[in-house]
Parts: sequence; C-alpha cells; structure tokens
Amino acid sequence: MIILSIETSCDETALAILDVNGTAKPKFTVLAHKVASQIELHKQYGGVFPMMAKREHSRNILPLFKETLREAKCFAQVKSKTLKAESEIKKILTREPELLEQFLKEIPNIKIPKLNRIVVTVGPGLEPTLWVGINFARALSTAWNIPLVPVNHMEGHVLSVLKGNTKSFALNTTIFPAVSLLVSGGHTELVLAKKVGSYKIIGKTLDDAAGEAFDKVARMMGLTYPGGPQISALAEISRNKTGTNAELSRKNTPSRFLVPSASVPRNSAIHLPRPMMHTKNFDFSFSGLKTASLYLIQKIGTLNDKTKMEIAREFEDAVVDVLIAKTIRAAKTYKVKTIIVGGGVAANKELRKRLTAESKKNNFKIHFPTKELSTDNAVMIGIAGFFGKVKKNTLENFKAKGNMEL
Ligand code: KG4
Ligand code: ZN
Repeated sequence: MIILSIETSCDETALAILDVNGTAKPKFTVLAHKVASQIELHKQYGGVFPMMAKREHSRNILPLFKETLREAKCFAQVKSKTLKAESEIKKILTREPELLEQFLKEIPNIKIPKLNRIVVTVGPGLEPTLWVGINFARALSTAWNIPLVPVNHMEGHVLSVLKGNTKSFALNTTIFPAVSLLVSGGHTELVLAKKVGSYKIIGKTLDDAAGEAFDKVARMMGLTYPGGPQISALAEISRNKTGTNAELSRKNTPSRFLVPSASVPRNSAIHLPRPMMHTKNFDFSFSGLKTASLYLIQKIGTLNDKTKMEIAREFEDAVVDVLIAKTIRAAKTYKVKTIIVGGGVAANKELRKRLTAESKKNNFKIHFPTKELSTDNAVMIGIAGFFGKVKKNTLENFKAKGNMEL
C-alpha cells in the first residue's frame, strides 16, 4: 500500500510517501520525507502566528507535494487534462485562494500517481493551519479519487518511535503496552498505549506545555524562537560536558556564547522550583516555573553570558527532573515494560540521557524517535494513517479539531 501523508498542525509543512507491505506484520519503507519549516519566518516575531503560518502552508504545500512525488520517483507530467470535479474543488479550497490557483494550474499536468490512500492530520494543533492540510488532502482526494484517512497528530508522535535509523522498518509490537511521554510545543501528556490504536491519557499539563515553557523562558533571556535547542545548548556549556563549539554553532547558538571549554561550576544562588513533581497524579504544570524564571531574571537584572548559561541549566534541569519523575512513576504504576518518548522536546539531549539512565535503573526499555522524527513530520502521520480507517470525503468527517484528544 502506498500512502501519502500530510501534516500542517503547526509551523512545519510536512509530506511523506510510505510503501507498506503486509498487514499482519507490516513492513514500512519511506519513499519520500519532506519538511518545509517556517522557523525562520516566526523567529522574527518570537513565536508562531497562526494566520501567518496558514498563509505559508498554503503557499508551500503544492510545491512541496511535487518535490515529494519526485523524491518517491512517482512524479510525471502529462498534457493538461481536465480536472475532475472542478467546482467541488473550488468549494473545498475557497478559503485558500492562493493554493486553489496553484492547484487548478498544476494538478491537471501531473500524472496521477499510484497512491492507495491520503492521510492527513486533523488535530490537535492550530486550526487555521490544520485546515490547509485537510483542504489540500480533500481536494487531491476529489481530483484523483483516492481514499482519505484522518489522523491524530499525537498518535503520530507515539508511533514515531517505530522508525529507526533505516528507511525500511518492521512494526515492533513488542514495545506495547507502554507509557508514552509526549512533550512538544503544544502538548505535555503521559499516555498509556496498550497497543496501536488504544490510548488513554493518564496525565497532562494543566497550563503550559514543556516546549512552550522552553520557548517562553528563552525569549525572556533574549534568545530566538524556538528556544528549546538554544536553552539546551547553553545548559550544556554550563555543565561543560560534551558541547563543542562546532556542535553549538550548528545549533545556531549566537557566537558570543561560544566560550572556550572552561568548567563553569553550578551557581547555587540560581534555583527554580520543580512544579508538581511529588503530586500523586500524573499531571504537569509549567506556568509557575515560567513565572519563577521571570522573577529570577528580573532579580538578577542584566544577564551576562555566564548567568544565561546558569539559568538555562537550572531551567532545563527543573523541566527534566519533573518529566522523569512522573514518567517513571507512571510506568511503575501501570506496570508496563516500555517507555516511549515523542514530540519536539524528545530531541532534548539531557532528557534523553537522564531518562535513558533512569529507565535502565528501573528495568524499563526506552524508545526515543530519531532526532529527525522528534519534531513534526509526516512520516509519523503516515504510520498512524496505515492503522487508521478510511472515511468518506466530507466536511463533516474532515474538520480541523484544535483540541482533539487521543
Ligand atoms: O513537536 P514539535 O516539533 O511541534 C509541536 O507540535 O509543538 O515541538 C516543538 C517544540 C518547541 O517548543 C521547541 O522549543 C521544542 O519542541 N524543542 C526542544 C528541543 N528541540 C525542540 N526543547 C528542548 N530541547 C530541545 N533540544
Ligand atoms: Zn508535534
């Protein structure tokens, strides 16, 4: 089965094509994997503006689709054909006029590729941006008569760990049942994943998501969006472990932070709380940590590079301490053997290192997605879509659901 997957829930336009062989023991091969990130645009404003993100998605999705077909070697041009159900397509793309114009111009010239289904993220995420992916998927499904499958973005993050470093991978069901820690810019959740398709949220953030807290605290320190990788790079220098200048410059750390590898001792005057770390439930709260960081920054006044690194280290430690404590406790409580991590914050080195060590200590197997599949992508949406159900291509079935739950 050849699957085209589409993801536009936030600031990444992502498309992928997967070839899946077999049903009982499916084997997946990634034929194409494309991501057009809007980070450079949103950097200037310190965060994602939904309407601006929507415009970018609708501008970029069709050119990216063509590149995706090319990468999967299923792109061919044909002499312009008449488009099937043109008036229906005009209706579907009425709110994306730029995309509609491109669609009417380009799609009739593309040879219909052998796609067995189109899967698309319908939530959770930013509704204006979700609509672009959904409407594009619906228009394409209408024009080419290809079945459609709606996908929950968070299920994608849970299943993102199934792909290892190779292009082809088999479904490893032995990882279930698992407790999955999903940590991104929009979500912080602990999910009990009994098997593919069976999920129960056992805890979630009551306010800010972990990634959101990283981004906001980074902004308070004058760092650019997204703040997670930058805070992490600064914290690493402060801990003086493996951070090399080359590594840090690859992460776009401002050059003034690239200090020689002198050891910087922990500053005991810089302390932040670990919110809800010891509460009995599996919920999180990061808004208090964000406020405490603001007070700390205000108290210090002018931040020099050294204090920035120390705050970054303490902030990262605080987030990681809470995430680890709750995840390990959830895995013990629900008596699972495996811990799965997903979402942008899963790229965080300190979280990876310490959660791996803690899991080993407690005899849990741990699975992280590859770095590439930690942040938003369409490969994970394609994997989830393989297990999903085809739904009739109607507005009722394909609505953006900003707060969709697993
Ligand atoms: O999953 P994702 O790409 O998008 C959402 O669905 O939100 O996650 C993006 C989030 C951002 O908040 C970003 O700051 C955070 O993931 N992030 C990190 C790291 N890399 C990305 N946070 C901490 N450390 C990192 N290395
Ligand atoms: Zn995500």
